[in-house]
Amino acid sequence: MRKKVIIGNWKMNNDKKETADLLLSLLKETWKKEINVKVSPSFVNLENAEKILKNSPIEVVAQNMHYENEGAYTGEISYKMLKSININSVIIGHSERRTIFSENDDIIKRKIVTALNNKMHVIFCFGESSENRNENKHYEIISEQLDVVMHSLTKNQWNQIILAYEPVWAIGTGVNATPEQAQEIHKYVRNKIAIAYNKNLANSVPIIYGGSLKPNNSKEIFSKPDIDGGLVGGASLSFKDFYSIIKSID
Ligand code: PGA
Repeated sequence: MRKKVIIGNWKMNNDKKETADLLLSLLKETWKKEINVKVSPSFVNLENAEKILKNSPIEVVAQNMHYENEGAYTGEISYKMLKSININSVIIGHSERRTIFSENDDIIKRKIVTALNNKMHVIFCFGESSENRNENKHYEIISEQLDVVMHSLTKNQWNQIILAYEPVWAIGTGVNATPEQAQEIHKYVRNKIAIAYNKNLANSVPIIYGGSLKPNNSKEIFSKPDIDGGLVGGASLSFKDFYSIIKSID
């Protein structure tokens, strides 16, 4: 059975105390051990989060990293720095990085290669804009974005990947993809992997959904056969909502 994954992406929110408070609340709760819960605080809070969660199954994930190992890149963070504080997973390709910070496929590809070659796990985000969908180009766009990750890894490296379908029009808008719309894309992605590799591999890759996941829509979205969990933004900032989303996949 594929693992279930729920990730809280806190983006540029939560200072040191707010981060610690949220984590301490989460630590008091339990859920089935098959559910992999991860949180992604800002860079400055990663080390403290990692210390707080040390003996818990909750994993701390970075929101970004640079593709070079070190050097004159003011303001950037390398995989080496992340690994030195025991952070072994990173989100790459988030639509906010693509649009606000102009990360193109080349940059994204380099980041994936650096992360994977250095034994990091990657949560790879992809998804179409509303224009793409209105023009009926969403499959084409998603396929192109996926090719970047598919051409960057060896067959063995697939176990370092979690795919996150995040339609741009659903991120932070309060308008989630319907369970059917999300399932349709997840199925398409799994099929694409099956064609490029094989069915077994395709069936083993976790594909999670992100975009206005809330306690009142998560259960239905997670009930779809190809949806293995969620990447939660806004709702993960509230302990109550985040925990309720975790429980909805339980
Ligand atoms: P949202 O963000 O849940 O606030 O829509 C999701 C994300 O950006 O990962």
